[in-house]
Amino acid sequence: MSANIIDGKAVSEKLLQNLKQEIVTRSKQGIRHPSLAVILLGSDPASSIYVRNKRLACEKIGVKSVAYDLPVTTSEKDLITLIETLNDDANIDGILVQSPLPDNINKDVIFETILPYKDVDGFHPKNIGLLALKQPQLRSCTPFGVIKLIEATQLPTQGLDAIVVGASNNVGRPMALELLLKGCTVTICQRYTQNLQQKIELADIVVAARGKPEFIKGHWIKPGAIVIDIGINRLDDGKLVGDVEFDVAKTRASFITPVPGGVGPMTVATLMENTLLAQKLFAQ
Ligand code: GUN
Repeated sequence: MSANIIDGKAVSEKLLQNLKQEIVTRSKQGIRHPSLAVILLGSDPASSIYVRNKRLACEKIGVKSVAYDLPVTTSEKDLITLIETLNDDANIDGILVQSPLPDNINKDVIFETILPYKDVDGFHPKNIGLLALKQPQLRSCTPFGVIKLIEATQLPTQGLDAIVVGASNNVGRPMALELLLKGCTVTICQRYTQNLQQKIELADIVVAARGKPEFIKGHWIKPGAIVIDIGINRLDDGKLVGDVEFDVAKTRASFITPVPGGVGPMTVATLMENTLLAQKLFAQ
């Protein structure tokens, strides 16, 4: 058996085209284009690529992107002042501060400074809380993108056993809440989890967000499972691999995402969806 490959690039392109169309329609009705402020501190190569992709997506679909490329030495106080200015700016719908941030800046303080209504990353405690309470508004981009990929399989999810490997604030935890909303019975694993292999062997949906190359072995995958790989790890030889041993896993799964070209493009597309949603829900 060989799994169907879930083409994240194709699913994200379709979403972006739909968003573009909606922005054009709204523009014809006299509504301004949505706008996203993207703040980048320093020049970390990976962060610079992510930010470039986000800005390119904005350009592609008619979201106005406002760039703040700040020195890595920027103080927490100055960053907070900038965010507060953007919070008060009625022409800005979304604010994104690219992480990781330098050590002198407390990322939790920064993410809480962004008004929940402009928190298009979906990281603010209020937005995570709304997701936990089954009233999602601005949803964390990567988990929201994963749900769209699972929906693209057209398989029913109610009652399935799902396992999330990794319990980070930005990915693993909101991912588990999203799967709960889809009617799954959810197990969240973290570094202290015992008998991980046995747990994965029972799962109908495996979402890997551990950040370790090929940490989840292919032969652990239950035949017919859906496998979603959020990991992006660069090996010494330059090759990009996920958190799942893809070549073996794909002989067992029913559907599997590749790395690259799986979850990555969805994170950008859902960021665009959130930016338009923020404008629709909250712009005066
Ligand atoms: N760094 C890596 N992924 C992300 C993301 O989705 N949002 C932000 N703000 N920073 C990131």
